[in-house]
Amino acid sequence: MAGKKPSESSVESRYVLMPGHANPQGTAFGGVIMAWIDMIASMAAQRHCGKEVVTANIDSLSFKKPIRVGDHVVLKSCVNYAGRSSMEVGVRVIREDPYSAEQSIATTAHLTFVALGENKRPVGVAEILPETEDEKRRYGNAKLRVAARKELLRKMS
Ligand SMILES: CC(C)(COP(=O)(O)OP(=O)(O)OC[C@H]1O[C@@H](n2cnc3c(N)ncnc32)[C@H](O)[C@@H]1OP(=O)(O)O)[C@@H](O)C(=O)NCCC(=O)NCCS
Repeated sequence: MAGKKPSESSVESRYVLMPGHANPQGTAFGGVIMAWIDMIASMAAQRHCGKEVVTANIDSLSFKKPIRVGDHVVLKSCVNYAGRSSMEVGVRVIREDPYSAEQSIATTAHLTFVALGENKRPVGVAEILPETEDEKRRYGNAKLRVAARKELLRKMS
C-alpha cells in the first residue's frame, strides 16, 4: 500500500460558538468541543485510510483557553502517525476573535482511530510520510506516545 503525506488527509473546519454550544458561564461546553474534535479527527483518519474507522482512544485532551459565545472556532486535524491498522490524529482547536481575527490555541487533543475491513475487524492502513519539519516532529512525538501506551498496557496486564 502506497504511503500518504499528512497534508493529503488533513481537514480544517470552522464554527461560530452559539449560545446552544455554551455552559451557563457563556463559554464553550467541553462536551460540544469534544464532539467537534472526534468528528474532524475521524474525517482525517477516514481520508488517510479510505475505510470505515472507529475511535479507539483519546490520548490527551487539554483545554488551554476558554472560547466565548460569538467567537469563531477553527479546528484543524491531521494524521500524525500510522501503525498497522491504527492512526494517531492530532487536533488543534483555535479560538479566533470575530473582529480582529486574532487567534490563540484553545484546545489540543490526540486520538487513535482503527480502520475496519468489511468483516468489521482491524485492517491495514497506508504508512504516513511526514514531509515538513512540523510533520516530522509530530510523527516522532506520536511514535513515542504509541510506544508508551503499549508499554503501560503490557505492565498493567
Ligand atoms: C478499536 C477496536 C476495533 C480494536 O479491536 P481489537 O480487537 O483490540 O484489535 P487489535 O488488538 O487487533 O488492535 C488493532 C489496533 O488497534 C490498536 N488499539 C486497540 N485498542 C486500542 C486503544 N484502546 N488505544 C489505542 N490503540 C488501540 C492496537 O494497538 C492495534 O494497532 P496497530 O494495528 O496499529 O498495531 C475495538 O476495541 C473496538 O471496536 N472498540 C470500540 C470502538 C468504538 O465503539 N468507538 C466509539 C465509537 S466510534
